[in-house]
Amino acid sequence: MRFTVAVIVAAATWAAFDSNVRASREPAAQTTGSGIYTEAQATRGDTIYAKKCEGCHAKDLGGADQAPSLTGKDFDAEWNDMPLGDLFERIHITMPGDAPGSLKPAEVADVIAFMLSKGGFPAGQTELRNDAAALKQLKYAAQGVVK
Ligand code: HEC
Repeated sequence: MRFTVAVIVAAATWAAFDSNVRASREPAAQTTGSGIYTEAQATRGDTIYAKKCEGCHAKDLGGADQAPSLTGKDFDAEWNDMPLGDLFERIHITMPGDAPGSLKPAEVADVIAFMLSKGGFPAGQTELRNDAAALKQLKYAAQGVVK
């Protein structure tokens, strides 16, 4: 009898422990609305954007000719719910259109921070990582945009 009680208590304790551990291991669902870049990073991205992107995507990120807008409704529709890691790879591999692959990973992260700031997403305390795999954990959430 005592043994049974001990087993039940042990099992209950383990279940509680296990679910705690699991809860703390699961990554919080972070999105572009969670403050995932810093203002300083966006400012660095602004400088990169002006030099390497603005010529095609326009100063206000509105796009021109073949180059699409990088904020707003169309961009939201294109990227909503997509992992930011995909956007990181898209830019790192295919942009700038006239020199694909020429940006360093840190420059790609900075330029995404700038795009997010222009898109009305809040800045936070932590810089956006310059690592596509880490950015797969973060989602572009268009509903975070204040229009
Ligand atoms: C020489 C012109 C040119 C430059 C410079 C350029 N782009 Fe582009 N970009 C394009 C064109 C054209 C497209 C659409 C066709 C394509 O995907 O190649 C595009 C597409 C994109 C897309 C995909 C948009 C979507 O709706 O999915 C992103 C993101 C992007 N560019 C970011 C950048 C960033 C960031 C820079 C600066 C580092 C940059 N581009 C520099 C011409 C350019």
